[in-house]
Amino acid sequence: MTYLNFSFEHVLRFVSQKAINSYEPLVRHYHDVIHTRSGPGKNFLGWVDVPADDAELSRIKVVAEKVKNDSDVLLVIGVGGSYLGAHAAIEMLGDTFGYLGRKKGDIPEIIFTGHHLSATYNKELLRVLKEVDVSINVISKSGTTTEPGIAFRIFRAFLEEKYGEEEAAKRIYVTTDKSEGALKTLAVEKGYETFVIPDDIGGRYSVLTPVGLLPMAVSGIDIDAAIAGARQAAEDLATPALEDNIAYQYAVIRQLLYEKNYTTEILSNYDPKLRYFSDWWVQLFGESEGKDGKGIFPAVANFPTDLHSLGQYIQDGRRQLFQTILRVDEEAETVVVENDEANLDGLNYLVGKSLNEINRVASDAALKAHVDGGVPNMVVDLPRLDAYTFGYIVYFFKKACAMSGYLLEVNPFDQPGVEAYKTNMFEMLGKPGYVSEEKLR
Ligand code: PA5
Repeated sequence: MTYLNFSFEHVLRFVSQKAINSYEPLVRHYHDVIHTRSGPGKNFLGWVDVPADDAELSRIKVVAEKVKNDSDVLLVIGVGGSYLGAHAAIEMLGDTFGYLGRKKGDIPEIIFTGHHLSATYNKELLRVLKEVDVSINVISKSGTTTEPGIAFRIFRAFLEEKYGEEEAAKRIYVTTDKSEGALKTLAVEKGYETFVIPDDIGGRYSVLTPVGLLPMAVSGIDIDAAIAGARQAAEDLATPALEDNIAYQYAVIRQLLYEKNYTTEILSNYDPKLRYFSDWWVQLFGESEGKDGKGIFPAVANFPTDLHSLGQYIQDGRRQLFQTILRVDEEAETVVVENDEANLDGLNYLVGKSLNEINRVASDAALKAHVDGGVPNMVVDLPRLDAYTFGYIVYFFKKACAMSGYLLEVNPFDQPGVEAYKTNMFEMLGKPGYVSEEKLR
């Protein structure tokens, strides 16, 4: 029994149970490869055992308390795996409109930047930050990534001007490598408090390290519960037996669908709180598998919103799509449709029904229509949205992604393709060491 419910009855029209079962030996093989850390990317499997250093966790909580007491805003600067996980957790578990009417000492607003190069966004942000108390958490494993590097330069200067260099230094928290990179050098030079990203955990697998845990703790999320959820998932998904391991079942079905030319997977959610979780998932699978001319293209749909836009294509467009539906069983709040005597909107047939019930009917109706329209569907049901579930589902997808990448015969832990644009950009901007021979002549 696992904490999540994963069902694939709606793919069996497209791939047979026999075909799924035939993957058992290969899954056992790659399970060993993952657990003995002997395959491609073997030095990046630190996340498998969900490590957490108690002293580091305590320090995260102390800093979170300080930031809560001295800041209205925590500015999180990072890109890719250095911000998507925290963003996913905070949107999933935080109070969506909590920033309205917040008072001193309440949970700070968490704002993300450094994942783009928009002057307008950053200028607007600087204007707002002038009026409030701010701390910064800058996150970069390499410590040399350009986009967050530039943002940190801008907002560090802002903080130093606002508070003076000494006080600014007490409001800057750096999450980076233990010894390497420009960010580490800067942190040592300026005396910033630093948190370490373990060597053996890559960016997109790092949300349950200080990368994600510090912003999550500042936003009031129970980080111990998130780790406990991930550890439970690690235990539940430690079996090599395909019939008992839902992460491996998900990986195998993806592979079988891919072999049948279903080359786009849509992660469809039914709650706006899962929007950024879907972005985290896109990075996890897109960057882990899209290489060597191979890979499923990961896409996102936010339902019911997108049933009124993408829904047409999903139902009726080119048949290369399959869907994984994320649903939530138990909502934290209940809203019920009330009676309206006049019934001018004609909605009295729904009186007494909760939004959650109606949402479930919308998902059942869309699922049936999409399967009838030729789209294989898998379903992941989360019991509720809390920190424990966040840790669990994050681990589920990470383990599935490791297996899925190996089944596809790629290294799920590197991202060589990301370098191509960087090299061009450095060359075009004239970064020392990157200027082309032609330009030097
Ligand atoms: O998954 C990855 O490794 C990447 O997406 C990185 O997280 C991203 O490129 C940011 O890198 P860094 O943390 O070194 O700034």
